Amino acid sequence: MAKDFKLDLTHRSRRLRRTASRRAMVAETTLRVADLIAPLFVVDGKPKPDEISSMPGVFRLSIPDLVKECQELHALGIPAVALFPKLDPKLKTDLGQEALNRQTLVLRAVRAVKKAVPELTVITDVALDPYTTHGHDGVLTAALDDVDNDRTVGILCQMAVRQAEAGVDFVAPSDMMDGRVGAIRQALDQAGHTGVGIIAYSAKYNSAYYGPFRDAVGSAQAAGTRLLSKATYQMDPANRREAVEEVLLDLREGADIVMVKPAGAYLDIIRDVRNACRAPVAAYQVSGEYAQIHAAAKLGWLDLARCRHESLLAIKRAGADLILTYFAKDIAKGL
Ligand code: PBG
Repeated sequence: MAKDFKLDLTHRSRRLRRTASRRAMVAETTLRVADLIAPLFVVDGKPKPDEISSMPGVFRLSIPDLVKECQELHALGIPAVALFPKLDPKLKTDLGQEALNRQTLVLRAVRAVKKAVPELTVITDVALDPYTTHGHDGVLTAALDDVDNDRTVGILCQMAVRQAEAGVDFVAPSDMMDGRVGAIRQALDQAGHTGVGIIAYSAKYNSAYYGPFRDAVGSAQAAGTRLLSKATYQMDPANRREAVEEVLLDLREGADIVMVKPAGAYLDIIRDVRNACRAPVAAYQVSGEYAQIHAAAKLGWLDLARCRHESLLAIKRAGADLILTYFAKDIAKGL
């Protein structure tokens, strides 16, 4: 009886899914190499391959290796890199003064990359966490019970100007202090860097998915705990409307591109932000998202290549124009 069961249907959605070519014709979202930004970690000296244990395939690179990597990424069509320094712990202080040293690691890295691959867009983080003993993104209040907003912003402005002097294309404040985008825009302009842009980490959540990154740059170890809390400045994962508020504030203050971070668990936020403004929207697929896919693949529980692609496609579909992802190179090779 089931054998000759027939439905009298006008609409059969499966018609458009019958062949690979039909599916390609009607695909609504595509991932392009030009959408990807590769985050890279840099260290001083000439270390032997220094793989980050919780991020398979991601290495802390010496400046010469970083330059080589940037040349390869550029050849693959990746438009931009975001550089993160892993500092010698001896250089860390409570006030993070090393961040303002004109010869500090990340500035030397920027100059080397810009010299070797001038067309590659270089982005640097504006935040003090790689430089502070306590691992916070800013300096602490006199009572040591919180990060001092305004004093931190003053330092971040100087840091952004140093980065502009070194030749970055965009500075990316990832600190979540109030008012920092406007202050940094003003500091850059006053110093004559009107062409340097700001990618604002506008809706950056207080997320557990940053764990592997903190291993990579040593900010959690510096704090003496993996449970370093940034809850007084990063957003509460419970909040959605607030993300739109943060984005609109940053745009009013002069952000060129706004960012949502993390990405995979925050697709609703990416969509809200996309609908709320006309600026380019970036999303950061963070270290923990990368680690999660790799861990499951290593156990044989997920297919690495397919999950990688699907995770990024979902972020684009949600509304991101640009994606920061540790998978950038793998994807570029595959596309
Ligand atoms: C710090 C910073 C963090 C990341 C980028 N910049 C971590 C944090 O806020 O502690 C996380 C990136 C990742 O997890 O991949 N300003």
